[in-house]
Amino acid sequence: MMKQFNQSLSPIKLGNITLKNRIVCSPISLNMSETNGVITDNLISFFSNIAKNNLGMVIVGNACVSNIGKGAANEIVIGKKIHLKQLSKLAKSIKKNGTVACLQIAHMGAQGNTHYTGERVVGPSSYIVPDIGIEAEVLTIEEIKQIEDEYVDGIVQADAAGFDLIEIMTAHGYLIHQFLSEHTNKREDEYGGSEKNRLRFLKNILDKVKKKVDTSRFAAKVTGNDFLPKGLDFKKIKFLIDMLDNYNFAYYQVTAGIYETAKQKYIQMKKGSYWDYAQQLKKLTKTPVMAQGSITSMEEGENILKKKQGDFWGMGQALIADPQIITKTLNNQEDEVYKCLAHLKVGSCHRCRYLKQKDKSFDCVTPGSWRRIGEPSKRKKDLQFWNTMLSKLEQ
Ligand SMILES: Cc1cc2nc3c(=O)[nH]c(=O)nc-3n(C[C@H](O)[C@H](O)[C@H](O)COP(=O)(O)O)c2cc1C
Ligand code: SF4
Repeated sequence: MMKQFNQSLSPIKLGNITLKNRIVCSPISLNMSETNGVITDNLISFFSNIAKNNLGMVIVGNACVSNIGKGAANEIVIGKKIHLKQLSKLAKSIKKNGTVACLQIAHMGAQGNTHYTGERVVGPSSYIVPDIGIEAEVLTIEEIKQIEDEYVDGIVQADAAGFDLIEIMTAHGYLIHQFLSEHTNKREDEYGGSEKNRLRFLKNILDKVKKKVDTSRFAAKVTGNDFLPKGLDFKKIKFLIDMLDNYNFAYYQVTAGIYETAKQKYIQMKKGSYWDYAQQLKKLTKTPVMAQGSITSMEEGENILKKKQGDFWGMGQALIADPQIITKTLNNQEDEVYKCLAHLKVGSCHRCRYLKQKDKSFDCVTPGSWRRIGEPSKRKKDLQFWNTMLSKLEQ
């Protein structure tokens, strides 16, 4: 019998933008741009291949506001003249089938990596990511103001390129998060200390850009728990949400953890804690909330909506493993979905994440996944590997 997905398939309004359904491709970064940040045609075909498969919105991950803002050599960079042409092509290719295009904007700050990018690593205060081991240089006030301007240039360019919505990354321990959290912000000037001061970097960006782009087209990925005594959690993020609500943000999505606490993050995600975080976030705001994190099927997404844990939902790895998962489910071909191995068992596969951590280009082990223009082509070897893993993991 055909399953019912009435809520997931109903439209939703985010600010003035309407999504044709409530199913979203969560932000994914592929580390597949040119080293100057220019988006490649391979990257464009990855996202348009997902967009055409019945998605309400596709969020492109980690568009960095400068080369220093990158965490890996081949991340997307935006804001300069050379970036506009391919950025526009990307937005157009996502929107072609009536899917809303959203660009996530970021700066890695102290979580950057000189070994990969050849750039300085900078942050609000001195800080060392344990697994990377590079000490971040403390930003001067002048440098902070310059990065605020780079955010403005990036956002203005995302708008000019045709993106419907712009998601500001305030989580995962990246630069804005570093300013917001007392774990990483030890400054004693106007950018550190009180909540008002820790918000200043983000507020300055919003105040500078609001005359150029309507902030009701902005969204944010926020943290529900950093798993650190001095980090952020739900008791501590009301100051952030209240400020973003004042700028009429279109939606929020909720995540957890920073690089330092990646292990705790995956354990909580697998337990479905992120969906509880989304439910808790809904209590802090009237702005629509996207639930995400380890959603493996349309059925799970629909249940989240039924339980009112979120207003719409996003998937990342399930769409990486099979960009056609939604189409196949709607066509009653769920048996043909190539499942993400990590969703079956934590730690069973880490390839897509691991490659970026090692500064390699994106890949996935399933036969249905996309690798470059013209794919997927079902490779016998992949099919054999995936089938063997699947039978082991499902035992
Ligand atoms: C390869 C890969 C790249 C990712 N890149 C980003 C990113 O650029 N920005 C971001 O906010 N989250 C990123 N994520 C996290 C996803 O958006 C999502 O929050 C996470 O994978 C959990 O959801 P899932 O179980 O549906 O994949 C990435 C995840 C993967 C697997
Ligand atoms: S590479 Fe592995 S973990 Fe990543 S999406 Fe594919 S199957 Fe899942």
